[in-house]
Amino acid sequence: MLSKHERTNVLIEALPYIKRSLGHIIVVKYGGSVMLNDSLKQNVVDDIIFFSCIGLYPILVHGGGSKINFWLSKLHIEPIFRNGIRITNNVTMEVVEMVLTGKINKELVTLININGGNAVGLSGKDGSLILSQPLDIEKMGFVGNIVNVNTKILSLLISNFYIPVIASIGYDQHGQTYNINADLLASRIAVALNAEKLIFLTDMPGILLDINNLATVIQTLDVNEASQLEKKGIISGGMIPKVHSCVNALKHGVAFAYVIDGRVPHALLSTVLTKNYYGSMLLSRKTR
Ligand SMILES: Nc1ncnc2c1ncn2[C@@H]1O[C@H](COP(=O)(O)OP(=O)(O)OP(=O)(O)O)[C@@H](O)[C@H]1O
Ligand SMILES: [Mg+2]
Repeated sequence: MLSKHERTNVLIEALPYIKRSLGHIIVVKYGGSVMLNDSLKQNVVDDIIFFSCIGLYPILVHGGGSKINFWLSKLHIEPIFRNGIRITNNVTMEVVEMVLTGKINKELVTLININGGNAVGLSGKDGSLILSQPLDIEKMGFVGNIVNVNTKILSLLISNFYIPVIASIGYDQHGQTYNINADLLASRIAVALNAEKLIFLTDMPGILLDINNLATVIQTLDVNEASQLEKKGIISGGMIPKVHSCVNALKHGVAFAYVIDGRVPHALLSTVLTKNYYGSMLLSRKTR
């Protein structure tokens, strides 16, 4: 139990962090892997509302891998991944769009709004947000590359203090729908809007040196170290697009990128408003 004095200190210690981030955009990728626990989901929503209340501009981009798998299994469709990206045929594309935009996006928007926030849900089709093209139709099906992120609708929303909640669905000029990796989308949005921070909430304690040893979290790594780890196969599966996204964001002016443990209550708040973060921080270059 904190004393009265300690409580006041907690608030005052947050002041420099609030001042630094005031008026800045924070893009959060909320992984489907950490959406299954309701109390943790409530924590994430509270943190996002907290940011919005103190004058930061949070944008939430969400995944939904496990829920998509759940609905695919009802149709007896086996999910197939290549380098952490879901191979997407016609039926899978329909399920992905329904689950992401119809279910997860609306659940998150509702949760934010009934807790006093002001969220608006979007997919890449709304406001022409994400123009896509196929990555490799033969090998990956309707997995989309991001051709353009049209930030007009996002700027309009955040300048009116709405919290955009984005499902990673894109489309092309013929109206074809694409499954966009939410990690890559979060990074592109962070770059396009000149965000201060890009934060990935996932189901691991951070980026691990040894995936079988949870105590091997890499606290800080730079862009070069990250590509070495990928070459050595230490970063694999769903961690690959996350690390690529961090590297891309840092190379294009985002100041801070993190992969943090979404299973820790209020890990997001801690990363933004204290000196502690639960996971890995990626830097452009380490100062030695
Ligand atoms: N070096 C590593 N350190 C930590 N995790 C790793 C590493 N290499 C691979 N991974 C894998 O990356 C996974 C995280 O990516 P995953 O795509 O599953 O989750 P997510 O992106 O949070 O969720 P979603 O894709 O549903 O939005 C971990 O569960 C882990 O198995
Ligand atoms: Mg993923």
